[in-house]
Amino acid sequence: MTVLEVLQSTTGYFQKRNIDSPRLNAEHLLAHVLGRKRIDLYLAFERPLAESELAPLRELVRRRGAGEPLQHLLGTVEFCGRIFQCDNRALIPRPETERLVELLISRFKSETECFRAVDIGTGSGVIALTLAAEFPKAEVAGVDISEDALMLARENAGRLGLADRVRFLRSNLLENVQPGLDLIAANLPYVSIEDRQNLSREVLHDPEVALFAGARGDELVQQLIGHAPSWLRPGGILAMEIGIAQSDALVAALEEKNYRDISAEKDYSGVIRFLFARYG
Ligand SMILES: C[S@@+](CC[C@H](N)C(=O)[O-])C[C@H]1O[C@@H](n2cnc3c(N)ncnc32)[C@H](O)[C@@H]1O
Repeated sequence: MTVLEVLQSTTGYFQKRNIDSPRLNAEHLLAHVLGRKRIDLYLAFERPLAESELAPLRELVRRRGAGEPLQHLLGTVEFCGRIFQCDNRALIPRPETERLVELLISRFKSETECFRAVDIGTGSGVIALTLAAEFPKAEVAGVDISEDALMLARENAGRLGLADRVRFLRSNLLENVQPGLDLIAANLPYVSIEDRQNLSREVLHDPEVALFAGARGDELVQQLIGHAPSWLRPGGILAMEIGIAQSDALVAALEEKNYRDISAEKDYSGVIRFLFARYG
């Protein structure tokens, strides 16, 4: 079979299994097996594929068809223009979170490039490591309750040449973090346990500790709002990704705790997804 024929038949197979973006998935997997860029496939449609190439592809296609996330099969994900290792030790970084980091980058580029930040619930380390890469003068740490996630975050730091710049440590929220922070950034679990049945089979490959917070979903974010004032320096920023329809209750909690400059920002789908506030 040629490259084009394999792409067509794999796309059809994924369509039957209700895989989103079937052609794109087929292209990513074939490019991965061939060790080429996806775009290179377009210059090689007529190239015949050897059995030694088809056999590993078949296995990946079978696993993708059974609901394994593409990013786990590729082993990597792109986040804000950098490549991160990605596996079942931590949540697969989402495009929404790239928006959170973009908003933070534009804020700090216009305020100060020399700041102390912590990423709470760092997972694979994408937020902490992107901030450290973008702001060479900043002091950045990432914390997580999961040792598995911290191991992956440290591996990503090493691959990006940032191991000396970002400290990753185990902490339940801010427990083991030194106060005096200019920024607390957090993408904590915000799915309610009742919503489990509505999640796609792909999402269920993320670790439970990365998804679920409690019966409502916003419990950990609420806790962080309560604790953060003691860790922020005066005027420091709390920036959080939140779940759909959680913003009213969380803005009320920020107001009740006397945060100021509270703002809610939308993600690329127009959903209010991020809250920013200053304390003191
Ligand atoms: C939604 S994931 C976000 C991962 C990463 N920041 C990202 O955006 O891709 C939430 C992370 O919070 C961590 N977590 C859950 N409960 C926590 C807690 N009480 N304290 C610190 N981290 C926690 C999970 O282990 C998980 O890595």
